[in-house]
Amino acid sequence: MFTLFRSRWDDTPKPLNKVIEGAVRLVEPSKGEKRRVETLASMILRKVSKVASESKLKPIVVLGGSYAKGTWLKGEADIDVFVKFPKDLDKEELERHGLDIALKSIRDHSPILRYAEHPYVEACVDDVRVNVVPCYDVKKGDWRSVADRSPYHTEFMVGALDDDLRRGVRLLKKFMKGVGVYGAEIATQGFSGYVCEVLSLKYGSFLSTLKSASRWAEREFISLEKVSEEIKDVFPQANIIILDPVDYRRNLGTAISKRRLAEFIIASRLFLKKPSPNYFVEEKGYPLTKLEKNKLTRNLATLRFRHSKRSIDILWGQLKRSLNHISKQLDIHNFRAIRASCATDEKEDSAFIFLMERLEKPSMDIKMGPKVFRQEDSKKFMEKNLETSKLVWIGDDARLYAMVDRRIKSIDDFFHSLIHAPKGGSGIAPGLMNDIKNTYEIYVGEDNIKLASSRPWLARELVRIISPDRLLTDISN
Ligand code: CTP
Ligand code: MG
Repeated sequence: MFTLFRSRWDDTPKPLNKVIEGAVRLVEPSKGEKRRVETLASMILRKVSKVASESKLKPIVVLGGSYAKGTWLKGEADIDVFVKFPKDLDKEELERHGLDIALKSIRDHSPILRYAEHPYVEACVDDVRVNVVPCYDVKKGDWRSVADRSPYHTEFMVGALDDDLRRGVRLLKKFMKGVGVYGAEIATQGFSGYVCEVLSLKYGSFLSTLKSASRWAEREFISLEKVSEEIKDVFPQANIIILDPVDYRRNLGTAISKRRLAEFIIASRLFLKKPSPNYFVEEKGYPLTKLEKNKLTRNLATLRFRHSKRSIDILWGQLKRSLNHISKQLDIHNFRAIRASCATDEKEDSAFIFLMERLEKPSMDIKMGPKVFRQEDSKKFMEKNLETSKLVWIGDDARLYAMVDRRIKSIDDFFHSLIHAPKGGSGIAPGLMNDIKNTYEIYVGEDNIKLASSRPWLARELVRIISPDRLLTDISN
């Protein structure tokens, strides 16, 4: 590892300005593309407005998100349309009418249901992602749903960003995509587009943002206006605090996981040390040969299952929560998972993946009993273990001990018993439990290669879990 780092430091870096010039060409849409997206956005706005005007509540329809702010990425335009409902409407009605209007207006483009705080609708229109999001039409500060702030975000950023800053935002987004930390949705738990805008405003340019990020402290506090740092106490769980300039009581960093934050900090440091265009390009290839060649493949254990279709945000939430619980159960049963992850085709096939220290355990377990001075407990321990154990004894420390056959000897046993645990005992999300029970399969060691050969979404995660982080090894080469 040391030589890897040293060789990197010794190389002559590509000049920073050349790398940035190249990246600008990757992120700035051409005039032609801008015109095409503008035409599309007005067409969508017209469609949604027409459907909205025909409904009895007559909500107001506005364009928002990166399209309205001029911060969308070349080749990846994304049009967000907000449908603003009267503020006294109750939540269920907002969802019902919101979805109804959204689905009607983009029904020709295979819309799908997505969830943030409440449901919204997404579709692809001529390769451009379109989101139609219901919210309340409120005065600033009278928020009823999270999305109510969005039109104010748009207004704020349209006023605050100039061409240079917009370029900075685009570079930052592309960099974050390249290193895998972009996106606030649960699947990624990274940085949102709006966070990129706030950071660029705070630090003034793409490079200053990276320079500052490379020095961020734990629970770094970021605010555009001067406010007392005591406000940090309002967010005791946050890994980073980035105050929303439109609502100083909201932390935009809530959705950012420790790992994504750490990855961004490390990426900033390494890029500044040795700039490379690779930081702006997502890693695409995860060849199976990497699984075949790496000895760690033998230590992989995968619990794969099929399930009914559901919104991808709900699915990712269920997978991540379940993974946390399964990892805790592994710990309790003395199985050490070095790394754990989940993967899904986002339709009906998903898996939990573990890189295990070992797949088998010794066949015996030593149970430590109470000290003999605790009369009742000692009696109970003996009653329970005397007959069934291979060996019982009094230790030099005045405790009772018993040696028993281990019931769960392998990772297979562990998964079987987890899945058949009494209701709720496994911690697996109830919404997945039946599907898992009915369809689960366990793949251990090299069996994973065959499983992954027809499933690129799984191959990618398996290769990742047994490989050193790309950031720490080969990104700048
Ligand atoms: N938003 C937010 N907090 C988030 C995600 C989104 O406040 N965690 C709001 C912001 O007002 C943002 C809008 O929802 O402008 C649209 O979200 P999204 O499409 O995710 O972000 P964009 O800024 O449009 O960036 P992108 O280019 O990725 O679409
Ligand atoms: Mg958007």
